Amino acid sequence: MQTVCLILLLLVPVALGQSDFEALLEVKKGFEKDPSGKVFDSWDSKSLTSDGCPQTWYGVVCVNGRVVSISLNDVGLTGNFSFPVLAGFKMLRNLSISNNQLMGTISNVGSIESLEFLDLSSNLFHGFLPSGVAKLKNLVLLNLSSNNFEGIVPSGFRNLESLEYLDLGHNSFSGDIMGLLSQLGSVVHVDLSSNQFSGSLDLGLGNASFVSSIKYLNISHNSLVGQLFAHDGVPYFDSLEVFDASNNQITGAIPPFKFVVSLRILRLGSNQLSGSLPEALLQDSSTVLTELDLSLNQLEGPVGSITSTTLKKLNISSNKLSGPLPTTVGHCAIIDLSNNMLSGNFSRIQNWGNYVEVIQLSSNSLTGTLPNQTSQFLRLTTLNISNNSLNGDLPPVLGTYSELKVIDLSLNFLTGFLLPDFFTSTTLTDLDLSANNFTGEIPLQEVQDSRQNLSLVSLDLSHNSLDGSLPPEISKLHNLLYLDLSNNKLNGSIPADLPDGLKGLDVSSNNLSGVVPDNLRRFPDSAFHPGNSLLIFPYLPFSPKGAPALVNIKGVDLV
Ligand SMILES: *[C@@H]1O[C@H](CO)[C@@H](O)[C@H](O)[C@H]1NC(C)=O
Ligand SMILES: *[C@@H]1O[C@H](CO)[C@@H](O)[C@H](O)[C@H]1NC(C)=O
Ligand SMILES: *[C@@H]1O[C@H](CO)[C@@H](O)[C@H](O)[C@H]1NC(C)=O
Ligand SMILES: *[C@@H]1O[C@H](CO)[C@@H](O)[C@H](O)[C@H]1NC(C)=O
Ligand SMILES: *[C@@H]1O[C@H](CO)[C@@H](O)[C@H](O)[C@H]1NC(C)=O
Ligand SMILES: *[C@@H]1O[C@H](CO)[C@@H](O)[C@H](O)[C@H]1NC(C)=O
Ligand SMILES: *[C@@H]1O[C@H](CO)[C@@H](O)[C@H](O)[C@H]1NC(C)=O
Ligand SMILES: *[C@@H]1O[C@H](CO)[C@@H](O)[C@H](O)[C@H]1NC(C)=O
Ligand SMILES: *[C@@H]1O[C@H](CO)[C@@H](O)[C@H](O)[C@H]1NC(C)=O
Ligand SMILES: *[C@@H]1O[C@H](CO)[C@@H](O)[C@H](O)[C@H]1NC(C)=O
Ligand SMILES: *[C@@H]1O[C@H](CO)[C@@H](O)[C@H](O)[C@H]1NC(C)=O
Ligand SMILES: *[C@@H]1O[C@H](CO)[C@@H](O)[C@H](O)[C@H]1NC(C)=O
Repeated sequence: MQTVCLILLLLVPVALGQSDFEALLEVKKGFEKDPSGKVFDSWDSKSLTSDGCPQTWYGVVCVNGRVVSISLNDVGLTGNFSFPVLAGFKMLRNLSISNNQLMGTISNVGSIESLEFLDLSSNLFHGFLPSGVAKLKNLVLLNLSSNNFEGIVPSGFRNLESLEYLDLGHNSFSGDIMGLLSQLGSVVHVDLSSNQFSGSLDLGLGNASFVSSIKYLNISHNSLVGQLFAHDGVPYFDSLEVFDASNNQITGAIPPFKFVVSLRILRLGSNQLSGSLPEALLQDSSTVLTELDLSLNQLEGPVGSITSTTLKKLNISSNKLSGPLPTTVGHCAIIDLSNNMLSGNFSRIQNWGNYVEVIQLSSNSLTGTLPNQTSQFLRLTTLNISNNSLNGDLPPVLGTYSELKVIDLSLNFLTGFLLPDFFTSTTLTDLDLSANNFTGEIPLQEVQDSRQNLSLVSLDLSHNSLDGSLPPEISKLHNLLYLDLSNNKLNGSIPADLPDGLKGLDVSSNNLSGVVPDNLRRFPDSAFHPGNSLLIFPYLPFSPKGAPALVNIKGVDLV
């Protein structure tokens, strides 16, 4: 009899509606680990106030016995999260359990009609999105990003009239993208990136009432095809600030985004767009565009001059652009024109103004010499002109730009001596001058007196005509991790105290001699040979079993 009563007692609350805190204790049972103990230690039936509210429960806000907010973001919880248990919550407005390792499917969620904020992002939830979601009429934010959800997003989203933020990114949702977008009302922020949505973005066909409210639209990394806005050019986006459709298979010409006057960021990289550059975006002072990425497409034609004063970052690399370099670049700080068919005189960059910080021009067909001007490029951090046809000597001014961190002039026809300033720099980390025709010695003498923290991390001087010996001062480059001096005419011995931290070394195909120093014997023979026929890489003459073996790196010196 007692048992029956107990069972009845347990069943009654479920049938009549469990109290919110009891439901939370059910939810807690599904959790496996709580590394910080925040939930396990505080969610406890003893700490209830007179109105039945949990008093000090971590992440729970309760009013008059009803839970209104549960926020367990970034707690590190693992285990199951049971949605059906929450079905009785009548006042719950906020459920945010982002960035844990919670599992399960979403079910019965439709009955929590009070929900305004539902954030399940960065967990391990899976399965289909139930059609019940469409009952959450008060929903303002739905964030399901970075889970394992799949399938077609159910119809009925048009009922979510309060929805402003929709983030389904980084899942496996599929289906026609317009099927979803055409249902959305006054949304502000929509992220559908990194899913398997298909179809074309063509608002002319659907009922796209979000066009006037949306500020952020990210549909990158999907399987979209066809032309952008094939039926109506660019629609009247009144508020659009960020549009990212990169990494799809979108074809055709770039529509006239210049009419979207609020647009700040436009990314269409890694598609199959063709035609010419939308020059108005590079010139028109009526736009506020700060970032334009059209890289990895099939755009053709000239680049023209860039006069926009808002544009800060321009990436039009890996297209088929041709003609000379632009004469001006406006206020651009980051310019990536690499891997195109640009030709003509490199010295046109003389007028690029001193806003530039990053210049990427590798793999074009630029000719001419590096300009020797002092007023320029005071903010330059990266200069990459590898794989062009530059000739002439290094201008001394190149060693004086105080912010330079990366210089890559590899694969050109440069000649003359290296600049001593490169090696005494306290900012330059990455220097690649390989595959040119530099001559003379490696000018490291000045390193001798340098009391400063020399910054070089990666030094590639391979495939040149450098000669002389390797100066012992090279060991003062304490931060060096990669050193490639192969295919030159260097002679003498290898200095004994190159940095122990060295991760990559190649000095092969030179005329070096002597014995490979102890601390370099961990590198394979290919780091030293072929070439260097007089350089000895010591082997144990005979190991105990008679087979040759490497010398113990630490200590044993047999020669
Ligand atoms: C979580 O769910 C799985 C599968 O339903 C089950 O095997 C496991 O015992 C559950 N874990 C907890 C803590 O309830
Ligand atoms: C919901 O909870 C999250 C996480 O604590 C919080 O950032 C957000 O402000 C809450 N929203 C509302 C409307 O209470
Ligand atoms: C959704 O959650 C992710 C990860 O927690 C976060 O980075 C993103 O900004 C959120 N999206 C919205 C629209 O709030
Ligand atoms: C378009 O959406 C509006 C507002 O959501 C609605 O009133 C109208 O009936 C819809 N029209 C069509 C053709 O779906
Ligand atoms: C769009 O989403 C992708 C993938 O989630 C992300 O890497 C990218 O930064 C987003 N674009 C913008 C402009 O926020
Ligand atoms: C330009 O885009 C390419 C390809 O998308 C990318 O690899 C490169 O890092 C970008 N350049 C800059 C300067 O961000
Ligand atoms: C150099 O550029 C040419 C085209 O100009 C390209 O075919 C080649 O792959 C590039 N080489 C390297 C090493 O990037
Ligand atoms: C490149 O331009 C510079 C400066 O205008 C000029 O001195 C030089 O002769 C030009 N070089 C070639 C190959 O046209
Ligand atoms: C480059 O400028 C430096 C300093 O003004 C000057 O000494 C040098 O002769 C110039 N070199 C060339 C090739 O014009
Ligand atoms: C220069 O650009 C090329 C092609 O984009 C790249 O492979 C190389 O790593 C860059 N050099 C440096 C030093 O970053
Ligand atoms: C490098 O320069 C030397 C003389 O300065 C010349 O003999 C040689 O042909 C040049 N090598 C290349 C690959 O241009
Ligand atoms: C020298 O460089 C190292 C490593 O980059 C850094 O930890 C150290 O603080 C620097 N020392 C000085 C005096 O700048």
